[in-house]
Amino acid sequence: MRICTVVGARPQFVKAAAVSPALRNIGVEEVLVHTGQHYDANLSRVFFDELGIPDPDINLFAGSGSHARQTGSIMARLEAYIQKSAPFDAILLYGDTNSTLAGALVAAKLQIPIAHVEAGLRSFDRTMPEEINRVVTDCLSRWLFAPTVTAVNNLAAEGLSSGTELVGDVMLDATRMFAARARERYPLSSFTQHASGAYALSTIHRPSNTDIEGCLEVIFSAFRRLPWPIILPLHPRTKARMDGVRVPGNVEIIDPVSYMAMLTLVQNACCVLTDSGGLQKEAYWLKVLCVTLRRETEWEETTEHGWNTCVGTNEEAIVQAALATPTGSQVPLGEAPAGTASSTIAQALVRKEEAIQTWSKK
Ligand code: UD1
Repeated sequence: MRICTVVGARPQFVKAAAVSPALRNIGVEEVLVHTGQHYDANLSRVFFDELGIPDPDINLFAGSGSHARQTGSIMARLEAYIQKSAPFDAILLYGDTNSTLAGALVAAKLQIPIAHVEAGLRSFDRTMPEEINRVVTDCLSRWLFAPTVTAVNNLAAEGLSSGTELVGDVMLDATRMFAARARERYPLSSFTQHASGAYALSTIHRPSNTDIEGCLEVIFSAFRRLPWPIILPLHPRTKARMDGVRVPGNVEIIDPVSYMAMLTLVQNACCVLTDSGGLQKEAYWLKVLCVTLRRETEWEETTEHGWNTCVGTNEEAIVQAALATPTGSQVPLGEAPAGTASSTIAQALVRKEEAIQTWSKK
């Protein structure tokens, strides 16, 4: 079986680090396409080096731009690449970025079956670019690999049950693969003099927080009231919006860090304050309290028993949620029904491909 995997942004590199080896271990020929959506070394290269992801077969160097420009640029370059390559049996897409959407539109029109990993997530907020990317990608996908029962139910509600399979969460695979190695390779002292449990960790990059006037100010006002130092690895989108924003004295801005470095920082934090989807889950799996700087989450399970609270950009709610304590044990999130999510996906793809081959020969 020959698969084209499309990645382009940070969270997709992490997912590929879990799935690519599983595909290659069972003999799938994988061609890895990097769209170039993320191009800074600390948002891209470092992930490949650190996580042992195979080098991309091609980088499309699509770069930044408005949504239309970025998506269109990836589409044009990906289409040209696929048309001159040997045929693919499937295209594998992760998550909800503009690279995912572009890959889905190109594959659908070239009639290549789409396998979507992290299918069925919904925030039900169509002002989020990611929500639009997810809905369109799921609609066009033949194989919908859902990480949770909630995702399976969302797909059913949209009439997409026939291609859906509950496989678990490949990010849980990645966390399990790399958390122990992170502790050895990146001791906390290599980043900060703060002791374990004596600081909070934050990431902020969603347009709803960076691009709406006043939001960053509200978040920082809340941070100022918290009793700990807050380490903030700053995403370039946010950095570009920081002019004139007053940063409180307890906020320590650092450059974006690698995946394993992030795992060390999460494991040792007393609290995570974030608008990232992936970090909410990593905090949960590593049993760290999370405050989600959004109004809703695609990972509803994390909010059970107070492990994660969605606070939007309400100063008082941010402070209260950060000072709260979870009230019960965790419900399972993203556990694979059999084996790991990555191996289930790899095996399912090979099985589906064999079924198609057998059927087409009849
Ligand atoms: C993208 C995804 C988001 C994901 C995030 C992870 C979409 C719509 N959003 O958001 O779902 O959570 O990646 O980080 O696809 N920039 C750089 N260097 C880079 C990449 C970006 O400086 O290597 C700057 C550019 O000015 C760019 C801005 O960051 O305009 C935003 O980048 P973009 O890739 O458009 O979206 P993200 O905010 O990273």
